[in-house]
Amino acid sequence: MRLLQTRAELAAWRQEQVGRLLHFVPTMGSLHGGHQQLLRRAAEPVSASRPAVLLSVFVNPLQFAPGEDFARYPRDLAADAALGEAAGACALFAPAPEELFPGGPGELTRVIPPVSLQETLCGPGRPGHFEGVATVVCRLLALVRPDRLLLGEKDWQQLTILRRVVADLALPLTVQGCATVREADGLACSSRLRYLSACERRQASAVREALASAFTLWRGGTGSAAALTGAVGRHLEAAGLAAEYVQLVHPSTLRPVAEADGLSLLAVAARCGNTRLIDHVFLMNRAPIVAIDGPAGAGKSTVTRAFARRLGLLYLDTGAMYRALTWWVRERGVDPTDPGAVAPLLEGLDLQLVMEAGGEQRVRVNGHEVSEAIRSPEVTALVSTVAAHACVREALTRQQQAMGQQGGLVAEGRDIGTAVFPDADCKVFLTATVAERARRRSVDLAQRGFAVPDLADLEAQIAERDHLDSSRPVAPLRQAADAVELVTDGLGIDAVIQRLVDLFRERVPEDAWPGPTPIPVP
Ligand code: PAF
Repeated sequence: MRLLQTRAELAAWRQEQVGRLLHFVPTMGSLHGGHQQLLRRAAEPVSASRPAVLLSVFVNPLQFAPGEDFARYPRDLAADAALGEAAGACALFAPAPEELFPGGPGELTRVIPPVSLQETLCGPGRPGHFEGVATVVCRLLALVRPDRLLLGEKDWQQLTILRRVVADLALPLTVQGCATVREADGLACSSRLRYLSACERRQASAVREALASAFTLWRGGTGSAAALTGAVGRHLEAAGLAAEYVQLVHPSTLRPVAEADGLSLLAVAARCGNTRLIDHVFLMNRAPIVAIDGPAGAGKSTVTRAFARRLGLLYLDTGAMYRALTWWVRERGVDPTDPGAVAPLLEGLDLQLVMEAGGEQRVRVNGHEVSEAIRSPEVTALVSTVAAHACVREALTRQQQAMGQQGGLVAEGRDIGTAVFPDADCKVFLTATVAERARRRSVDLAQRGFAVPDLADLEAQIAERDHLDSSRPVAPLRQAADAVELVTDGLGIDAVIQRLVDLFRERVPEDAWPGPTPIPVP
C-alpha cells in the first residue's frame, strides 16, 4: 500500500489509476471494524474489474466545534496503515492540514448543506459540523476524483447530507452506504468508543438496548413517535445516560414524523460520561418493493430478473402475466378486442409465476407451461390489446397486489409504480431511445430465429406501441412522480443492474433490510 502525504503525491498516484475504477473511503483514522468493512466493500469487483481503493485519514478541524474533542481525537497512522492495507486499500492519503487547506481553514470556500437536513438529529447540538464535513469531503472528492464514495450508514445524517451535496453539485460519482458494524456487545463501532472506561462501556450498551426495546414495542403495534421516543428516553435515563436527542424521522428528509409509517428512522445521541454516542434503528413495516416500469422493449425483463436475483428478491413479472392471459385468449379462440368475450376467461384464471431453484421463472396458465410460448411474435402483437381492457387490468392488478402484500419483490410492468404498487420503496422508470430499442429488438429476434424486419419498420412499430401505451384510457404508461428515470442507451446490463442496486440502497438502507441471502449465480 502506498502512503501519499501531499497533493502532488496523490495526483501522481491518481494518474497511474486512469482507466481503472477508483473507490474512495474517507475517514478520520483510528480505524475500526466499520472502516474495515467499508474498505472490503470498496475492494469488491464491479463487473469483473477490480477497483483501486483509496483510504484517506484526516482529522478534519472544520467539523469540530470549540470545546469538542478535536485535540484528543485518537491518532495512530501506523495502525491505520496496517489495518487499511489488510482490508484491501491500495493507497492511503494522509495529508497535513496545510496540504488540504493551503490558505488555512479561514480562507476556504465552504459547502453549506440544506438547512432542512441540518435542523434535526445531530444538527442543533453540533452547529457547523455538517458544513465542516461537506466542505472537507468536497475538497477530498475534487482531489481524488473517485467513481464511488463509500460511507457508513451508522452516520446516517452525514450519509444523507453527503448524498444530497453530491447530487446538488452534480458530482460524477456514486455514493454507497454500508451497514453499521457492531462490536460484540452490540455497540456500533466508533472511534470514540476508545474514550470509554470499562464501567462506561457497560453503561453505554443501554443505547442499543433502549433502541432494541423500542423496536420490540413498535413490532407490537406502537407506532407513535411520542411513545417510541419516550420509551428510549426513559431507558437511557434509567441507565444514567444523558440523551441529547431521541427522534423519529423520515429517513430521506430527516424531518420528524408523528407516526412510524413505511420506513422510519428512530435515532438517538446520548452522553456517556464525556463521550457522545449515536445510534439508530430503522422501522420498516414490510420487506421492500421495487417497481420498475417504462416503455416496452427497454430491457425491463432481463434487467429486473437479474436485479431481483442479485438482491434475493422475488421477481414479479407482470408483463408475463398479461402475456400468459393473451396466450390463453388465443388458445380459446376468443376475440382479443372484445372485453365482453375476454372477461369470462378471467374467472377462475389460474395464473402462476413459479421461481425455480436457479432463479429462473416459469409461467403457467391453467395448467399449461407457457414460459416460451408467451414470447412469440403473435402474443407480442396482441398483448397490448388484451391488457387495455379495464376488466383485465383490474383482475391482474388485484392478483399482483395480493402477491405483494408481504413485500420482498421486484415488480415489473407498465403501470407498476403508478397503479399496482404506488407505495413501492423504490420506483424506477427504465427507458431507452426508440432507436436503441429497435436495435435491441432486431438482435433479439435474430437470436431467437424469427424473421427480422428492417430497423426503420421496427422503430415505427415501437413508436406506435409507445403512443398506444401512453394514450390508452386504462392504465396508460406514465412515469410516477417519485420514480427515477434511468436511460439505458449505451449501458451494458451489468452497469444498469449496478445503477438499480445503488438507487435501491439509497432508499432501502442495509441497516433497514440487509436482504435475504441472494440466490447464488449458477
Ligand atoms: O465520518 C467521518 O469519519 C468523517 O466525518 C469524514 C466523512 C471522513 C469527513 O471528515
